Amino acid sequence: MLTTAKVDEIRARIKSWRIQGESVAFVPTMGNLHQGHVTLVKEAKQRADHVVVSIFVNPLQFGQNEDLDGYPRTLEADKAKLVDAGCEMLFVPTPAIMYPKGLEQQTFVEVPGISNELCGATRPGHFRGVATVVCKLFNIVQPDIALFGRKDYQQLQVIRTMVEDLSLPVDVIGVDTVREASGLAMSSRNGYLTAEEKAKAPALKQALDALATAIKGGSDINAAIAQCKASLTAAGLTPDYIEVRNAHTLAEVQADDKALVVLAAAYLGKARLIDNLPFNR
Ligand code: PAJ
Repeated sequence: MLTTAKVDEIRARIKSWRIQGESVAFVPTMGNLHQGHVTLVKEAKQRADHVVVSIFVNPLQFGQNEDLDGYPRTLEADKAKLVDAGCEMLFVPTPAIMYPKGLEQQTFVEVPGISNELCGATRPGHFRGVATVVCKLFNIVQPDIALFGRKDYQQLQVIRTMVEDLSLPVDVIGVDTVREASGLAMSSRNGYLTAEEKAKAPALKQALDALATAIKGGSDINAAIAQCKASLTAAGLTPDYIEVRNAHTLAEVQADDKALVVLAAAYLGKARLIDNLPFNR
């Protein structure tokens, strides 16, 4: 596996593949890879001739008081997992390579509306950082397809909107959330949990299951959300938001919407956990 921080090296190798008429799949990550990431890479390998992965802890998507400095960086272990999963090229740029003029002096990609709600309400500027870095990475790698986890449901929606609005020639593919046996969605941030907190964390998925079941059974959405918040609090988590939205657009639920998604974020110790559950009513 070629591992490089150099944009030119990435472009040269990809050009040689393209000349042969071969396809390229891309999986952007921030590293500290777990089975969720590995699943994306394996799925990418099924769908294209070559798989490129990036590991970049993107400073532009972290808020002032967030965990940029403490974000887990485990490059050697990550590389071994990527080789096993079939990745051929790993792009590991530095902030200076991605943002040579600094974080405040460049062009940004803004996806309005959706970026300011849900996680965006708690994390102002986060989705601008995500959209900007993903757009830059797409321009560097120029993949045919790019794979993203449904675990970050809103992020996937932001990226789909960006690709459509900017006519980017990339096919965006969503991959189902990979979970621990307990139901807890895998996340690099789960590493912040103590053993005691880790035992409490599956309550988030359980609360989402119960909420979806209640709504499918005809409960009023707001009443079911209130119940869900109470059960999370009782389990020792602090809910940030719990919302039910249209699964395709993330717009507020209309009376005749059938495909819905419940989205949630909750604090537990040092971690802010997010999860979601698409369902039909
Ligand atoms: P990161 O959190 O490292 O996630 C990289 C990709 O893995 C994302 O598409 C994410 O949705 C997916 N993923 C994470 N946990 C998953 C799980 N349990 N099951 C399935 N997929 C999962 O998301 C980012 O990085 C960044 O915001 C990025 C898109 C790389 C831009 O910086």
